[in-house]
Amino acid sequence: MSFKLKKGKKKIHIIVGARPNFMKMAPLYKEFAKFPEEFEIKLIHTGQHYDERMSKFFFDDLQMPKPDEYLEVGSGTHGKQTAKIMERYEKILLKDKPDLVIVAGDVNSTSACAIDAVKLHIPVAHLEAGLRSFARSMPEEINRILTDAISDYLLTPSPDGDENLLVEGIPKEKIFFVGNIMIDSLIQYKDKAMKSNILSRINIDSTQDYALITLHRPSNVDNREGLLIILNAFEEISKSINLIFPIHPRTTKQIQAFDLEDKVKNMKNLHLIPPVGYYDFLKLQMGAKFILTDSGGIQEESTYFGIPCLTLRPNTERPITITEGTNTLVKLNTVDIINESQNILSGNIKKGNIPKYWDGKTAERIVKIFRIK
Ligand code: UD1
Ligand code: UDP
Repeated sequence: MSFKLKKGKKKIHIIVGARPNFMKMAPLYKEFAKFPEEFEIKLIHTGQHYDERMSKFFFDDLQMPKPDEYLEVGSGTHGKQTAKIMERYEKILLKDKPDLVIVAGDVNSTSACAIDAVKLHIPVAHLEAGLRSFARSMPEEINRILTDAISDYLLTPSPDGDENLLVEGIPKEKIFFVGNIMIDSLIQYKDKAMKSNILSRINIDSTQDYALITLHRPSNVDNREGLLIILNAFEEISKSINLIFPIHPRTTKQIQAFDLEDKVKNMKNLHLIPPVGYYDFLKLQMGAKFILTDSGGIQEESTYFGIPCLTLRPNTERPITITEGTNTLVKLNTVDIINESQNILSGNIKKGNIPKYWDGKTAERIVKIFRIK
């Protein structure tokens, strides 16, 4: 190990910024909080996501306290957003001098805060380390590679993560296979989620089948042609099954920019709704016939639930959801998306298993690593 964490009580910063960070950090925050003599925990929210439905809803559902620091960086180009996070977080680091910074996933907040910390010689732990799509055109892949290269503790969700890191020359002693922490939240809240009345709130007859959709990757929604390929497929699929589509703000913006609002509104069985909270979304996943998505986390949650997932991407950084779970990649092609959906509707349902250490105990395993006296 290139450093040792100091002995005695440790001050730790937990960084959140965007929607997929909240359900990963909530269980970790709570596990550290069980040992107040050993850890002082501060929750830092960069403000990368800021709409109530992309942020506050999750603090409520996941029973998280208000952040100790809120950096209010908001949206912007990659350079602008990253720079704002780095400038604002550095000030907090200089003032607060934590002993460890923990970042999660692959969003801009992840790499920006990690870079800030290592340059001040503060150790960094990366939660969800080692995942690779091998597509450097994705901003997330750049964030993953950068963060892993400079982190001191690489906490991986699946063995493929360990393998990728070893190939990149990361020393074995830095790598810890801890399991999938999103599943900690899912297990903790799935009973509460079962009680959500989201279907009646959006006027869906709960006896009818539906497929659930999410879409927000720039490669799918930031050009009109690609977005049309997908919407044309939805149009056709919606003739056979209800589609429920909690729409990401990026996608709403692009549908407006490309003048596609009427096309979406005119699909009779497409139920377009604003982004929903964590319980509501888990409930929608559990009841879905299948899921169409380009999300990272939803590939994993659907594998846990055993619900077929069609991932509208040419690659995934989460290959275990394909080899062990219920996930299938589908090319950006209207016919392929329709055929794969029809395949499921005609009863060809991919069965899967729950991968090792997706067991609700990942936060426990992580905190153990840091409980060195
Ligand atoms: C970000 C992450 C992506 C992650 C996704 C999860 C990066 C590079 N991307 O993508 O990896 O999968 O979050 O949802 O970090 N917007 C709002 N309200 C908000 C947040 C965003 O209206 O609360 C709109 C803004 O117009 C903004 C756009 O969405 O420009 C994109 O937001 P941004 O955080 O840059 O990227 P995401 O697409 O959300
Ligand atoms: N999610 C949610 N409401 C929604 C859409 C997603 O609660 O309307 C949850 C979902 O259950 C998962 C996480 O958000 O836990 C995934 O986040 P997202 O797809 O935004 O990011 P990604 O995982 O692709 O980075």
